[in-house]
Amino acid sequence: MITLTGLDNFMSVSAIEILASSLKAKGWCVLDDAFSCELIDSLVMEVNQLPDEMMQQAGIGRKSDHQVKLDVRQDCIMWIDGNTPARRDFLVAMEALKVTLNRMLLLGLFDYEAHFARYHENGYYDKHFDAFVGKGNRVLSTVLYLNERWLGSNGGELVMFDEHDVDKSIATILPVKGRFVVFLSESFAHQVNPANVCRHSIAGWYRVNATDRLTIDPSR
Ligand code: OGA
Ligand code: MN
Repeated sequence: MITLTGLDNFMSVSAIEILASSLKAKGWCVLDDAFSCELIDSLVMEVNQLPDEMMQQAGIGRKSDHQVKLDVRQDCIMWIDGNTPARRDFLVAMEALKVTLNRMLLLGLFDYEAHFARYHENGYYDKHFDAFVGKGNRVLSTVLYLNERWLGSNGGELVMFDEHDVDKSIATILPVKGRFVVFLSESFAHQVNPANVCRHSIAGWYRVNATDRLTIDPSR
């Protein structure tokens, strides 16, 4: 039996059970309608209203390694803090999910960071890992899609690759509203295909605390 720590305000018990068992069995999971419609609708409204000027060109690498490389990654982002009710509810839900997944899977997740992402028409993100073995402290990646009425012909798929063969695709996922994808950050290469319309999501990462005696581990 699972203990919910408030998560059931945001996610159904069956969604949590499917998520935990898929992560355990294969390391990734796609869920539709995991979150309440109210929460998704308010996040969709907020991201639609975000002016480009409030977003920054995304880069690769963290802290002093950070670089913008438009040939690799073309989204604009805005880090999420709890400064609107919808953003706060989202972070509260993800915090509750963290506690639940730690209990169910003993993942030792420590904190969570997330940003809105906007890919303009033809924007893409080349095949990449969100964390590198041994280096990364990102353990679990999450992507929540915020696109109303997305068609197959719009493209913009998330393509996931086999953890043992990075040339072999194992899933092609359309970024439809409310769809939630979770995967082990160090295990699965993935890419974002170009779309013929603007594409919105929230990408986020659960981290373990990699602080040690000599270095304090920064976020982001
Ligand atoms: C990322 C990423 C996937 C997506 O931001 O690192 O891989 O489908 N996003 O938006
Ligand atoms: Mn990624």
